[in-house]
Order: sequence, then C-alpha cells, then structure tokens
Amino acid sequence: MAELKEIPEWERISAHSHIYGLGLDENGKAKRKADGLVGQIEAREAAGIVVEMIKSGKFAGNAILLAGPPGSGKTALATAIARELGEDVPFVPIAGSEIYSAEVKKTEFLTQALRKAIGVRIREMRKIYEGKVEEIDIEWTQHPYNPYQRIPAGATIKLSTTDEKKKLRMDSTFAMQLVQQGVSVGDVIQIDIERQRLAKLGTTKKSNEYDLSTAHIVEIPEGSIIKEKEFVYTPTLHDLDVVNSRSGVDFFSLFFGSSERKEIDESVRREVDRQVKKWIEDGMAELIPGVLFIDEASMLDIEVFAFLNRAMEQELSPIIIFATNRGITRIRGTDIKSPHGMPLDLLDRLLVITTRKYSADEIRDILLIRAQKEGIDIEDEALSKLVEIGEERSLRYAIQLLTPAWRLAQRRKSETIEKEDIERAFRLFVDVKRSVEYLREMEKEMMVD
Ligand SMILES: Nc1ncnc2c1ncn2[C@@H]1O[C@H](COP(=O)(O)OP(=O)(O)OP(=O)(O)O)[C@@H](O)[C@H]1O
Ligand SMILES: [Mg+2]
Repeated sequence: MAELKEIPEWERISAHSHIYGLGLDENGKAKRKADGLVGQIEAREAAGIVVEMIKSGKFAGNAILLAGPPGSGKTALATAIARELGEDVPFVPIAGSEIYSAEVKKTEFLTQALRKAIGVRIREMRKIYEGKVEEIDIEWTQHPYNPYQRIPAGATIKLSTTDEKKKLRMDSTFAMQLVQQGVSVGDVIQIDIERQRLAKLGTTKKSNEYDLSTAHIVEIPEGSIIKEKEFVYTPTLHDLDVVNSRSGVDFFSLFFGSSERKEIDESVRREVDRQVKKWIEDGMAELIPGVLFIDEASMLDIEVFAFLNRAMEQELSPIIIFATNRGITRIRGTDIKSPHGMPLDLLDRLLVITTRKYSADEIRDILLIRAQKEGIDIEDEALSKLVEIGEERSLRYAIQLLTPAWRLAQRRKSETIEKEDIERAFRLFVDVKRSVEYLREMEKEMMVD
C-alpha cells in the first residue's frame, strides 16, 4: 500500500546509495564484488547470518556490534543489511548523538525508536470484485451548487474474468472514483466494497509506440469476479501508538501527517500492546521484530546503555545493531574506561563483527563503483592518485573528492577526470588531518589569556 516512504536522514546523504545488498551467493558466501560491496568478506558473511536470524524471527532481543576503524564500511554494512531485510521488516537507523538533540527526553526518544523497529503484520480477508472492464457507462447529473458543473451520479459497468462476466451497478462514490482514475474499457479494476475503494490495477491493452502513457500492463484475472482476497499491512508498534494517541486520526494520515515528535502516554502503549497480543492470539497478526541500528555508539551515555540493556530483556524487543570506531575509551557519564566506551555487562551479551581497513585494490574498486553510480568518468592515472589519497588520508575523503574533481574537469571542458583535477581538488578541499594541523598552526598565532 504505502508507496510513500520517508527517506531516512542517513540515506539522504546518499553516501551509500551504491549499495543494494550484501552480495552473497546462495550458500551465504560473499562474492568479492557484488551488490555494490567490495571485500570485507568475513563481515559480510557474518552479516548474512544475522539477516537469516532476523528473518526467521529467532533473534529478537539480541544485539550485534559492528566495530572497526573509520571508513571501513560499518554504516555501509548496516545499509546492506537493511536492503536484505526488505520492505516488511522495520529497520530504524539512528545516530548516537541524535538522542541528545531530540526535543523529547532520551528515554522517550529511545522507546519510540525501539517501537518503530517492531512491525505488526496484520492479515485481513476481504471480499472484492476484480475484473477487466468490458463496458462502462457513467451517468451524469447537475452539480447541486454549481450549475456549470456535472458530476457522476452512478455507473454501470461490465466486468469479466477468463471465466465469467458480470454487470454491476454502482453508486456515486464508486462512479466518482472511476472518473478520477480515468478508468476505461480494457482496464483491470479492483473494488473493495467494505472500504468503498476502487483501484485501477493496470490495463490489458498493449500500448503501441505512439502511446506515451505509463499504464501498467496486466493479465485478465482468472476465476470468479467476486473473491476473497488477503490484505497485508505491517504498521509498527509506534505507528499504532500514534494512531491511538490522537483520536480521529486514521491509519492513512500516518503516511501524510506531520512527522513531529511528541511524547506518547505510557497508558497508550500498554493499550496497544494489549490489543496486539489479542490480535496475535486470534491469529490475525504476527510480530515482526526488526532492527534498531545505533551508529556512533560511543556517543551513548551510561543511562542510555542501562535503558537499552533493560529493553533487550523485555518481551517485545527488536534486534539492536551498534556501530563504533572507538577502541578503549571512557563510558560517557562515568570515569570508567571500557572497550568501545560500552559497559562490560552490555558488551558481554553482544555478538561482535569487525571490519578491517581496505587494501589499495579494494579502495580502487569502491571508488570505481562510486564514480559509476554518479556518472563520473575517471582516467587511470587520476584513479591511482585518488587511491593513494584514500590510503593515506581516508576512504571517505577520497570518495568525497570525486564530485569536486568532476566539476573541475568539466570546467576544463574535459570528459574525464585527470590527475590534475584530483590534485586541485585535494588542494581546495582539506581532509581532517590537514584541517587539524592548520588549527594547531593557527592557535600559535592566537592570543592566549
Ligand atoms: N565494502 C565496501 N564496498 C563498497 N563501498 C564501501 C565499502 N565500505 C565502505 N564503503 C563506502 O565507503 C564510505 C565510507 O564507509 P562507511 O561510512 O560505511 O564507514 P564506517 O565504517 O561507517 O566509518 P565511520 O566509523 O567513520 O562511521 C561510504 O560511502 C561507504 O558506502
Ligand atoms: Mg559510519
């Protein structure tokens, strides 16, 4: 149903737009280069096992830690996991620092994030009419207030499947939808009486080369015109919380409503949990534990860790995937040093996947994939220079230089990036190392009090 999906902030940056999956073969072995991913073989295979565990629902309440140096593909791996899980399994990415900038309390923010990461798959059997439109006859009437306008008052249509034909009389609600959706002879439509909805599924007319319509070609339906059809939706626990906390809001406004973050009453959540349990007992719904991905986990403080530790023990808990690039460091909110800045009792229950620094060949392949994704042409010598920069500075920095270098090449009216463009871009845009050096130099010139 919902084709409209908010693009999460971390993807809007599109640094990982070249990633389509984990690139594993049917035995779960990682191909050296597939689905936009290069190398990092063990981590990808481990992630593949995690995906299987999540999909089989056997892993709820557990947690994973992705640990490795900056730019070694931890966020990339999480993106790939999200792609592999597909549409139906919730994947909620947040950054550790977001928890503090939110306009709600830390625990409220986290509770919402955790509940967004659990889907409730609801199945419903409904009676529908489905068939190809053979004849269509719309009756028009005068608009009650506007004498110059006519509106559909009703319609008669003849539907057919491969097995039968039926003539149907419809009232103005459906006639209006017929007109709005531009239904004509040859189209296949579906009518949901209960919900008063009519949908055009496509057309059986093959378009000729002059037909610029983007109509979707479908087959003539089989069987009888009236059928019982299963409808499946997967709102998250948080979606249900929102619907229940605002009276008068229906399910659809979720997708169009404002995305403001508000506190939700604990009593609403208890009521939703009770309702969902009942649906499950009645065989109407099942729980789909998804993933809460927490990037920059070393930004979390001791209170947040304690909260998450408790959350993982609860009955309804998603899988949590943490990512960190820190080694031994202080746990925020304490004086205690610990691996990755995470408390030992939490670390103890994590499965850890490590990512490693890339070799020059891998950097080359990743840069090529990025260049291709952005429609950028780069000459061999320039690429070698960029690989060198990637090794010396960082992979991320090398990737970021691609676009400015491409601009510079275009300014020279060149069709491809050459070495000089890379060198120019390298001078114009400073990486972190150089910017820190510069600040140190500058400090010497500044006044000290
Ligand atoms: N194995 C890979 N295959 C293809 N692209 C990759 C791979 N690893 C990383 N990248 C790309 O390189 C860039 C940097 O990687 P990423 O952001 O995943 O690093 P990270 O480990 O999350 O770093 P940080 O610790 O700084 O968050 C991204 O654009 C990412 O998509
Ligand atoms: Mg990252």
